[in-house]
Amino acid sequence: MSATTTPAPSEASTSRHRAEGDPLDLEAVDAIELWVGNALQAAHFYRTGWGFELVGYAGPETGVRDSCSYLLEQGKLRLVVTASLREGTEIARHVARHGDGVRDLSLRVADAAGTFEAAVRRGAVPVRAPWEESDGCGVIRRATIAAYGETVHTFVERRQYGGVHAPGYEPRATVPDPLPPVGALDFDHSVANVELNRMDFWVGFYEKVLGFSLVQGFTDEDISTEYSALMSKVVSDGVGRIKFPINEPAPGKKKSQVDEYLDFYGGPGVQHIAIATGDIVASVAALETRGIEFMRVPATYYEELRERLADLELDVDALERHGILADRDDEGYLLQIFSRMNQDRPTVFFELIERRGSRGFGNGNFKALFLALEREQARRGNL
Ligand code: FE2
Repeated sequence: MSATTTPAPSEASTSRHRAEGDPLDLEAVDAIELWVGNALQAAHFYRTGWGFELVGYAGPETGVRDSCSYLLEQGKLRLVVTASLREGTEIARHVARHGDGVRDLSLRVADAAGTFEAAVRRGAVPVRAPWEESDGCGVIRRATIAAYGETVHTFVERRQYGGVHAPGYEPRATVPDPLPPVGALDFDHSVANVELNRMDFWVGFYEKVLGFSLVQGFTDEDISTEYSALMSKVVSDGVGRIKFPINEPAPGKKKSQVDEYLDFYGGPGVQHIAIATGDIVASVAALETRGIEFMRVPATYYEELRERLADLELDVDALERHGILADRDDEGYLLQIFSRMNQDRPTVFFELIERRGSRGFGNGNFKALFLALEREQARRGNL
């Protein structure tokens, strides 16, 4: 498959006018791309373990010379895992420094060049100027800005593209999956870990550059244990489809989970991706069958939960059996669970979340979760 790269016409970049302060026209998270050491094996993990379907491939067989990528889908969620085939590439250097990690949280837009130019005008650091690629399936326009650490946001305009993901990719049919389906529906949120005293900078970046607003904040009072603490603020686009909580470590007696992440990731980056499900008990049961392991909270959590949520018709026994957490706020409640790490380094993991009215992030669970994370951290000798 051949792909042509041409600069996007400047017409597109000036066809939209947005007033300063207006949110950009971000439609959704397009895909989450991880740069990994071995894409074949990572794809197998996300497919067999997490229940994604393999739908596309790009590599030497499709005309891509020095990397290979697998496109995985589940519900509306799209993951791309990409590995370098040679040393000395940007991907190889990224993996050597960070291990497997999220490189690109790409955002679907109506006008990639226009969004890019508006973002840069508002202070975004450009990574790649608008470019256009086409093949027999149409044309795709993209442009990339920098976010925290080496994480980037690529704006993706794919309305005129009907192929699988992008030029260079070919459809790849998955083998039949005999394991129970996970039932993941969509992206819910993605959490960044940044350095001490940098959280407000990045909150400001999303507010100023992407027109997000601050929706929630936790202080170290909310999220602290005897030993360590973290601070967290949540930014969201205007309609709440794209939610990015941002954590920073707070000073404590010992190293916090955010410090451990920053140490092993070699700087700021994506800590976890939360995936929405309509039936978390069924999803977790399926994932357990598939060999995925989760963080566990102590049994006392459920004693307390039975009192805290006594008026809700929850099957607390089922939640306890699977280690699922619950929290409520004025708008409703949510159920959530956090996986163990997705790779060797204590960096990236997944969350599953079932929302029943609540638009929060499990404020009431932070402490229980934090203690569970600390126990794991202590086992690694990093507390
Ligand atoms: Fe989360």
